[in-house]
Amino acid sequence: MRDINQFTITEAVKKTFKTEPDSRFEQLLHGLLDHLHDYTRENQVTHDEWMTVLNFLYDCGQISTPERHEFILLSDVLGFSALVDMINTKGGATEGSNLGPFYLDDAPRKQLGGDLSDERDGVSILVHGTVTDTLHNPLPGAIVDTWQADAAGTYPIQEQEQGQDKFDLRGVFEADENGRFYYTTVLPKPYTVPYDGPVGKLLRAGNRHAWRPAHLHYIVRSPGMSSITTEVFFENMEYLDNDAVFGVRRSLIAKVAPAKDKDIEALGYQLEKKPDAICTFDFVLAPEG
Ligand code: BEZ
Ligand code: FE
Repeated sequence: MRDINQFTITEAVKKTFKTEPDSRFEQLLHGLLDHLHDYTRENQVTHDEWMTVLNFLYDCGQISTPERHEFILLSDVLGFSALVDMINTKGGATEGSNLGPFYLDDAPRKQLGGDLSDERDGVSILVHGTVTDTLHNPLPGAIVDTWQADAAGTYPIQEQEQGQDKFDLRGVFEADENGRFYYTTVLPKPYTVPYDGPVGKLLRAGNRHAWRPAHLHYIVRSPGMSSITTEVFFENMEYLDNDAVFGVRRSLIAKVAPAKDKDIEALGYQLEKKPDAICTFDFVLAPEG
């Protein structure tokens, strides 16, 4: 290794790892080293630039807590999370999108037709649709797990110190015998991703904003099917074309129509609250494997 130079170091480093030949680990590690070293050579990275990157990563670690994972946020604003979502969306299934930091895996079960808004101010919307497989067969009993911000763009979990219940504006529904789910809630507003840390500095350095368009989060699952983690957006809302975390896909933008009495009656749902508007969105799950 004494005769190592800037052109031979990449292979030399790869060889020091005793990885199982042709394993996935080896493929990912070698690919990473190839790209990292090529990038460094191509850009003739200076010591100052190298240290700036390492200090940035150090700062991301310093600000991270179990509730705030700055590296995930970094992945989000770099489009890395979205790219992984895109690569892993199954053909014919609903496109995947950000999980975000506010998911709780023990949200309360709610009855179909229930209201998630807990008397919060704002536009009340009926959210409804069908969960099907890729051949359009309904999936009765599919689980629709949802969480969202309020009409001020805040997740109740962010305001627990102000007395908010972290389980508000979230719930787990079981689709009916026709694969249908329906509930009312409050129309959320756009909000910013956290920008008081190193990722915020990066956004400012690149003249970028931290806003996300209003959305509803979902995890939808059914036995024998690949579950999906995704988001539903609303047409004609701000930031659909410049989401700070690249979560929007055309197929995930739902129409919102005024809730006319006759339309609600025709749907035949038993609703706890009368909505102002109707948002329709269907989920499609692909078979597992
Ligand atoms: C969210 O949608 O809740 C979110 C996504 C990425 C970063 C921060 C928040
Ligand atoms: Fe969100």
